Amino acid sequence: MNQDELKALVAQAALAQVVQGELVGVGTGSTVDRFIDALAASGLRVAGAVSSSERSSARLRGHGIEVLEANAVTRLPVYIDGADEIDPQGCMIKGGGAALTREKIVADLAERFVCIADQSKRVPVLGAFALPVEVIAMATAQLIRRFAALGAQAVLRPGVRTDNGHPLLDVHGLRITDPLALETEINQWPGVVTVGLFARHRASLCLLGTPTGVQTLVF
Ligand code: 5RP
Repeated sequence: MNQDELKALVAQAALAQVVQGELVGVGTGSTVDRFIDALAASGLRVAGAVSSSERSSARLRGHGIEVLEANAVTRLPVYIDGADEIDPQGCMIKGGGAALTREKIVADLAERFVCIADQSKRVPVLGAFALPVEVIAMATAQLIRRFAALGAQAVLRPGVRTDNGHPLLDVHGLRITDPLALETEINQWPGVVTVGLFARHRASLCLLGTPTGVQTLVF
């Protein structure tokens, strides 16, 4: 099975996590695209979706699934999203698709975060994938210096603005042994909108696509 087939496999498996008649939180990325398609084809009836990006909203609406504003929602049983890396505790690096801020907002609304990913995303320690950080433009240079002081190299993602209109840094050279502590620290830096570390909002369940089937990790 190739990577696309593994993504389709976990997308299909994630349908079992959807609560019929309720809202579903929907992340962003190629794995989530497969999930949206599977949801539309499944015949499962949901009350609508809360989306983490313009990209996912457009795909959901294209399938006739109503997209609700996060501000209008008080109860969201489950949020389903991919990850760039996931560690043995369910902590994740996210934001490869530049949607980290809205992803964290929708994850915060949800009762459960279900991560769907192919097996390549599972790592013993986070950090080989460059950590995305959404920032306020005028703070960029200072934040690059702050990361340098940690021994890391932050680079501006060229030509990218998030759905919120902000630039993104990709931070290379981190070995993240304490994701919660690092997330907490970076969150304090002026000019940081969102760090793509999901330790406070880690997954409670991960459906991992492997050549022998879907592996379920409970955290
Ligand atoms: C987008 C994300 C995605 O969940 C992450 O990049 C994984 O994407 P894919 O499913 O395409 O591998 O965080 O901001």
